[in-house]
Amino acid sequence: MNAVSSIPPELVIPSGAEPLLTVEHLTMRFGGLVAIDDVSFSAGKGEITSIIGPNGAGKTTLFNCITGFYTPTIGRLILRARGEEFLLERMDGFRIAQKAYVARTFQNIRLFSEMSVLENLIVAQHNELMKASGFTVVGLFGLGGYRKKEKEATELARYWLDKVGLTRLADINAGNLPYGDQRRLEIARAMCIKPTILCLDEPAAGLNPKESSELNKLLNYIKDEHGIGLLLIEHDMSVVMEISDHVIVLDYGSKISDGTPLFVRSDPNVIRAYLGEEETDELPPEVAKDIAKDFNPENREGF
Ligand SMILES: Nc1ncnc2c1ncn2[C@@H]1O[C@H](COP(=O)(O)OP(=O)(O)OP(=O)(O)O)[C@@H](O)[C@H]1O
Ligand SMILES: [Mg+2]
Repeated sequence: MNAVSSIPPELVIPSGAEPLLTVEHLTMRFGGLVAIDDVSFSAGKGEITSIIGPNGAGKTTLFNCITGFYTPTIGRLILRARGEEFLLERMDGFRIAQKAYVARTFQNIRLFSEMSVLENLIVAQHNELMKASGFTVVGLFGLGGYRKKEKEATELARYWLDKVGLTRLADINAGNLPYGDQRRLEIARAMCIKPTILCLDEPAAGLNPKESSELNKLLNYIKDEHGIGLLLIEHDMSVVMEISDHVIVLDYGSKISDGTPLFVRSDPNVIRAYLGEEETDELPPEVAKDIAKDFNPENREGF
């Protein structure tokens, strides 16, 4: 038996990439409600894996399990990064961020709105700076190590400000940025922790088509230049179809499809979830494209 055929079918990565995150039999219950029901999949190293599905499908809950906001009812979450294997379901949110370097952005933007754009990126590196200080005031004021780290933190912040096109707005309060800029600042902040995996919850929500296409470029840049894996929850099908290597579809907490963007968009299970029970025929690509147009932030009753 070769290595590929020994992989359980639900964990196969279409490109054959090495797994970065493996989710095994994840179930999350809230009282009687099953928000995630026995979901398994793998996300590849250096790939963009998109999680799509209708409202309430369990997408954000999945992120909350991966990032330690919730402890899964059942299941394993294995992150393989930096030569280590992290069992995320056994770690709390703080350790998941600080030891496994899992970074996320939120469906509803969470920035420090009263801090400047640059300060938001420095604060993100608080943990590294505190480590350099030896967690002492003496360290903060006296030692070269801290000063060096502080300089590095500022350089990293400036690097990401440049990448997201916010350098000229570095000193204004984050809360005063236009919406699209705030979304990009959130991504820059997440990148400042030098993550092993970046989890983005609807980063294209509320963006206009130009901003959305810039976002595609930014996410591809992060993938290509920084070689990390991205998990992307997205309703905007133009983003999903264009930049994903791998798409996972959730519906009512269950995984209903898993494959390449091309496979998923013509999967009868997905079409049924889009159009209702009676429609089981394959969706012609032009119809799929039309439907995709409906998945914009102003009209988000479907996926
Ligand atoms: N803390 C919680 N307590 C109870 N129910 C919850 C909790 N968090 C999520 N749920 C429920 O779990 C289900 C999945 O919610 P989730 O937010 O994961 O959906 P989603 O796929 O992210 O939807 P959307 O596309 O609208 O963001 C929903 O029925 C939701 O009401
Ligand atoms: Mg959500």
